[in-house]
This record gives sequence, structure tokens and C-alpha cells, in this order.
Amino acid sequence: MTNHHGARPRLSVLGTGYLGATHAICMASIGFEVIGVDVDESKIAALASGTVPFYEPGLPQLLDSTLESGRLKFSSTIADAAGADIHFLCVGTPQHPQSHAADLRHVHQAIDSLAPHLDRKSLVVGKSTVPVGTALELTRRLRASAPAGADVELAWNPEFLREGFAVQDTLRPDRLVFGVASEWARAQLWSAFAPVIDEHEVPVTVTDLATAELVKVAANSFLATKISYINAMSEICDLVGADVLALSEALGRDARIGSRFLRPGLGFGGGCLPKDIRAFLHRCAELGGRHAVRFLEDVDAINGRCRSRAVDLVRDAAGGDLHGVRVAALGAAFKPDSDDIRDAPALAVTRELLAAGARVTVYDPHAMPNVRLRYPDVPLASSVLEAIVDADVVLLLTEWQEFVRLDPSDLEPLVGRRIVVDTRHALDAERWRSAGWSYRALGVPATTPSGAPWSGGDPAVFATQ
Ligand code: UGA
Repeated sequence: MTNHHGARPRLSVLGTGYLGATHAICMASIGFEVIGVDVDESKIAALASGTVPFYEPGLPQLLDSTLESGRLKFSSTIADAAGADIHFLCVGTPQHPQSHAADLRHVHQAIDSLAPHLDRKSLVVGKSTVPVGTALELTRRLRASAPAGADVELAWNPEFLREGFAVQDTLRPDRLVFGVASEWARAQLWSAFAPVIDEHEVPVTVTDLATAELVKVAANSFLATKISYINAMSEICDLVGADVLALSEALGRDARIGSRFLRPGLGFGGGCLPKDIRAFLHRCAELGGRHAVRFLEDVDAINGRCRSRAVDLVRDAAGGDLHGVRVAALGAAFKPDSDDIRDAPALAVTRELLAAGARVTVYDPHAMPNVRLRYPDVPLASSVLEAIVDADVVLLLTEWQEFVRLDPSDLEPLVGRRIVVDTRHALDAERWRSAGWSYRALGVPATTPSGAPWSGGDPAVFATQ
């Protein structure tokens, strides 16, 4: 499908953060002419010179090749987006500083700066995660200040990409959702995604604006609920000495439940799941429907408890007092293959340990620059081995492959005590135990170093062995 120029639509992408940069690069990689626009000049300068300003596997290579093709441009001047036929809105919607609501400041700024340049029929497509009802409000706002008035249309196309899999999720998504108010908007969106849809037979749900907005928050709420569900079971397992890993495996083998996102551990973090469930609760309350999603308060609370349970487990493993205990904290990013530390469970645990008097040293393969910037007081090591020297407890917080592959026998001569706390259930417990380590994890029975399973009583007893 083509636009009124008889060619593929030209695209602009407003906001070149995680979502926008990935979208701009990927769309250019499949043949579109794309201009990425951001108010942050340093971000634009980096991207224009071929540097992706965050860690995402595969994206730097794709940026290089698309810049070379000449189809991808970047600018910090919104007027440069005027030549595009379809404008994708990809700015961030963080948690509001004073409440649980989504902060729509960047969305409004982007719309207000774009509108004066819309002097012909064009489509603005929202991809940011927003409270339901935002698209309708933005349509009015756009039309009020765009010279083309009612000829400007708004559509919503929520984005489901995961950090670490951003390229794959963009070019080969499980599904696409088009929230539209007219057949013209549907056809325009279809033309923008035709290469993706055709290449992999991607299913498309075409719906109204409100439903499209809801799909995104409903999906993230469901994922968060699934994770908190298994972590709630982990709490119960701890009470009775049962094994949440076996429980999760058995549950996941029921095809109706499925094993994905059923991994117990330190819970969810990042720039999306935590703030999205809170913003959803907030919006539902505004709509008079908080009761329908009140369970999300529990989902959030269970998730928070994962962090405090991890701190308790370290205290327990160390013998009951954290004061002066040397902890090698492995990981800072909210998940592996990302340098994102927003609402990172790993850092929450580290900071609680530090506050309790532990002497923590953090190492993360990619997130250290962000930690240094945001938390200059957190002590950092320049390698895993440096972090673990003289450690009383080796604490795995983010399951990077580099940590999963560690050989416990190599570490033995370096550490103070052979105690490992695996908050992500990522290590091979038997391997560590048979190397003489006390291996501890949430929701699984503590065992002696010889591998005999713990059969009740106070788990702290093992800390003294
Ligand atoms: C999440 C969603 O998965 C994406 O579909 C969505 O597009 C994105 O948010 C967004 O709204 O932009 P992401 O934040 O990249 O993606 O991270 P996830 O892979 O969902 O992981 C979230 C957290 O849950 C991580 O901290 C991870 O460690 C944790 N997690 C995940 C578990 O604790 N257990 C699991 O079984 C899975």
C-alpha cells in the first residue's frame, strides 16, 4: 500500500529513547525513510554519529547499516519532521514525581511542538504507554493547533518490546495492535507495517483507540501478576520448607498456565512493569473502577517483599547480623542484557544492605556507568573477581551469563566464606553445594553444604556452618 505520493510513507519518530531509537532504526532497516527527533541534543548527536546511547544487543550494528543507507536521519529540530506522512510518538511516560499517575508532560510537549507543522492530511501514531483516554484528549489537542485541523488523525499502536530483545520484538512481533478512528488511519498504519506483517504473517488486532491503549497496560499488568503470583507461592514455600522451583516447573507444564514469566526470584523492575501497574491503578480510580484492579496493589506489594526477603536471606546466611558483613553484589541492572537500572530490584537490595551496615561491593557487566551516575555512593568493583575478594556472602542479583557461568571452585581461594545467595535461581545449586558452598535461595529449602535437604526448623542454623 502506498500513500498519496505513490511511494512508501515517510516516517518521523518523536522521542529517541529506548523505544523511539529502536523503532526508528528498525523501520529504516526495512526500507522506510525515517527521521528521528528528540529535544535531547546529546542523544541526537550520539545516534547521528552511530552510537546507541544505551545497551541493546544487535542495535548498534543495525544503526550503522541504516545510517549508511541514507534512509535514517536524526534531528533536534521538530520542523524537520514536517516532511513525514506518519509521525510516531515514542516519548517516555514515567511515574509522576508526586503520585502514582503517569507523567504525560513529554507527550504533551511533543504533540504541542509537532502540531503547528501539520499543514496537510497526516497521521500521528502514539506508541508510548499512556492512561486509557489519553488518545482522545490528544486528538482534540492536535486538531486545535494544527493548521490542517480535522485532517490530522491520531492512532494508537502500543509497543510490546522487551529490553534485550528490542530488535527481534520490533521486526518480528507476536502481534500488532492498531487502535484507529477511521479506515484511512487503518490503511496508513497497515502501509507502515506491511513489510513486518507480510514477512512473518504477524497477526494484527484492529480496534478503537481506548482498547488499544488498554491492551498495553493490561498486558503488563498480567505479566506483573504472573511474576508476583509465583513469588507469593515462594513465600508460602518458605513457610513450609517446600520448593518453589519444582512448584513452578509443575505449574508451567500445564499448557493453560505456561512456564514463561513464572520464574520466581527477586521480582520485576525496570522502567515499565512497576510504573505501569501503578499508573493503571491510578487511572482506574479516576474512572471509578479501582475495585476491579485492586489486586494490583497486592501484586506491587508482593514484588516489594521479594526485595526485603532477599535482604533477610542475606542477613540469615551471614549469621543474623549484617553489620560489617562483606557482600559481593553481582548485578545492578533490572535484568540481564540491559544497562537499565530504573527501579532495579538488584540496587534496591544493595542499598538496603548498605543501610543495614553491610560492606557491599557491586559489579555489573554493563550497568556500572549508570550506577555511578545515579548512586555515586554505591561502592563498585571493576570485575567479578575484584568484587568477591574477601566476601562473606556472594550475592547474585541479576542473572547475567557471566555470573551464571562462574565456577565456584575458582572463587573459593578468593572469598572469605563460601556462602552464596542466589536471588534469581540462576546458579546450579548442586554444583555450588558440591564445591563446598552454602547455597541459599528464596522459596527453596536451605541445605547443608553436603547437599542434605533442610527438613524444617530455623534456616539460620546453616549460616553458622
Ligand atoms: C516489559 C514487557 O515484557 C514488554 O512486553 C513491554 O513492552 C515492556 O515492559 C514495556 O512496557 O515497554 P521489560 O521491562 O524489558 O519488558 O522487561 P521484562 O522482560 O518484562 O522483565 C521485567 C522484570 O521482570 C525483570 O526485572 C525480570 O527480571 C522480571 N521477571 C521476568 C521475573 O522476575 N520473572 C520472570 O519470570 C520474568
